[in-house]
Amino acid sequence: MLVRKPLIAGNWKMFKVVGEAVATIEALKPLVADVGGVDIVVCPPFTALYAAGQALRGSAVELGAQNVYKEAKGAFTGEIAPQMLLDVGCAWAIIGHSERRKIFGETDALLSEKLRFAVDTGLKVMFCIGETLEERQGGQMNDVLSRQVGEGLAKLSASDFERVALAYEPVWAIGTGVTATPEQAEEAHAYVRDLVRRQFDATIAEGLRIQYGGSVKPDNAAQLIAKPNVDGFLVGGASLDARDFAAIVKAGAGG
Ligand code: PGA
Repeated sequence: MLVRKPLIAGNWKMFKVVGEAVATIEALKPLVADVGGVDIVVCPPFTALYAAGQALRGSAVELGAQNVYKEAKGAFTGEIAPQMLLDVGCAWAIIGHSERRKIFGETDALLSEKLRFAVDTGLKVMFCIGETLEERQGGQMNDVLSRQVGEGLAKLSASDFERVALAYEPVWAIGTGVTATPEQAEEAHAYVRDLVRRQFDATIAEGLRIQYGGSVKPDNAAQLIAKPNVDGFLVGGASLDARDFAAIVKAGAGG
């Protein structure tokens, strides 16, 4: 049976100035130094990426950005190119976070272009999907996930999937303290994996890591990762604290 290596990422959102980011990384490194069998990523804000990358040198923890644009250079005031992220030591970028979709109006069409270009440039991507509470209660969850996966991944081909993970983040669970139950997460992840199987093929679907995100904490991580289709986490609030994040990493690695 194919084993998908858990992928545990911390999304720091718009928190931490440079000094705080470096201090968190220095605290995190020894706590996760002996944890094997798991990929670990931290995603500080853009302004702290370079210093965070320096602080991470020699550690197995990888660096990620929270957003990226779909062009290499040009008159795009305020945007950051994938090449710039690679230049400061990023291996990863988050694309399509629900806050980007909702607050900044990023569409499925734009996100699919960002994903295509980031992967072409050599970044690995955590591509986020997930339904709102309204959509879930209105019985539209499957349609929403189907649209986000269908359009979001539309420009990818089979070989791109080495560089892509999906993050299922139900919007109603993000920053609310309400976590999806392990059963709800498993149901959505299995559905998403099946969408990928139908859009691509079984090998790609089976190899694809699907992270869960939304109020992941040290005390609920073990139950979530125990589900067969949950392959890691994208952690917001709890990733800001090195000890909490390390506890989640350990749970993700199987204890
Ligand atoms: P949360 O955020 O863990 O604070 O709910 C998750 C995310 O937005 O990625």
